[in-house]
Amino acid sequence: MKPRLIVTRRWPAAVEAILAERFDTTLNASDEPLSPAAMASAFADFDAILATVSDRLPVAAFPEGAARTRIIANFGVGFSHIDVAAARDRDIVVTNTPGVLTDCTADLALSLMLAVARRTGEGERQLRAGEWRGWSPTHMAGAKVSGKTLGIVGMGRIGKATARRAHFGFGMKIVFFNRSPVDDDETRAMGAVQMPTLDDVLAASDFVSLHCPGGAENRHLIDARSLRSMKRCAFLINTARGDVVDQDALTGALERREIAGAGLDVFADEPAVPEALKRLENVVLLPHLGSATEETRVAMGMKVVENLTAFFEGRPVPDRVA
Ligand code: DGY
Repeated sequence: MKPRLIVTRRWPAAVEAILAERFDTTLNASDEPLSPAAMASAFADFDAILATVSDRLPVAAFPEGAARTRIIANFGVGFSHIDVAAARDRDIVVTNTPGVLTDCTADLALSLMLAVARRTGEGERQLRAGEWRGWSPTHMAGAKVSGKTLGIVGMGRIGKATARRAHFGFGMKIVFFNRSPVDDDETRAMGAVQMPTLDDVLAASDFVSLHCPGGAENRHLIDARSLRSMKRCAFLINTARGDVVDQDALTGALERREIAGAGLDVFADEPAVPEALKRLENVVLLPHLGSATEETRVAMGMKVVENLTAFFEGRPVPDRVA
């Protein structure tokens, strides 16, 4: 008997084909997220739930009693949408997909930096609206990116990849905040300086790029007070998780021009994005595209396949997080 899996969203066709071949797989042709009731049934009826960031799995979503589900294989590196303690208590393994989305997420952090500082979203909106009056010396002058100081918050894989691009591609100076010390060849090669506190990084940076996990430990790490620590000419970039930033405080800081702008790929309550943010010109808003390339989404799916195959063959699971 093949293990029974449920895939909660549409996945790349190549990955769905392998899943269907190896396992007794239920796909989600509609791509609609599972309702809470459907998720509750999934725990009763399937050996594995193949979840994504669009599934909310707090403790209340887990069954009180015994579940059939033995593994939640997440399509994504961030797993703060899954209560891993609740999973552990029920002997449910949780896996993620690290490594394969590092480059694309770092690429997108750079594109947000460039877009917000060089006002490309604003410029495109103006042109498409037929409001461009032609070149002029003062037209849409933004902020220079090359040579500025980038502050990285969370110097893990994606933080380092972002810093590498900024330093070697744009000649940026790198400072960073990380809870544990980071001292390796890669950070040394960039001349990256670890600062003792988050406030030190916020005060020193022209761009601050967030690369720490979401969830309780980093909720509102960037709040009204920390936004006030940033330079008025600085930009905040978030490709991590929406809950790392106090979204209301950020909106206020942008409205009052306490910081120069923000580039956001993630939001507190996705897919909802506050109207107040959408009204602002000094923010670039993207619909959680960090890992959204064909190559990366297939690679993420293949990681899930590896994790599931190892699990059901009784081998050590490569990307086990709980
Ligand atoms: C990730 O992998 O964490 C991306 O944000 C998609 O969930």
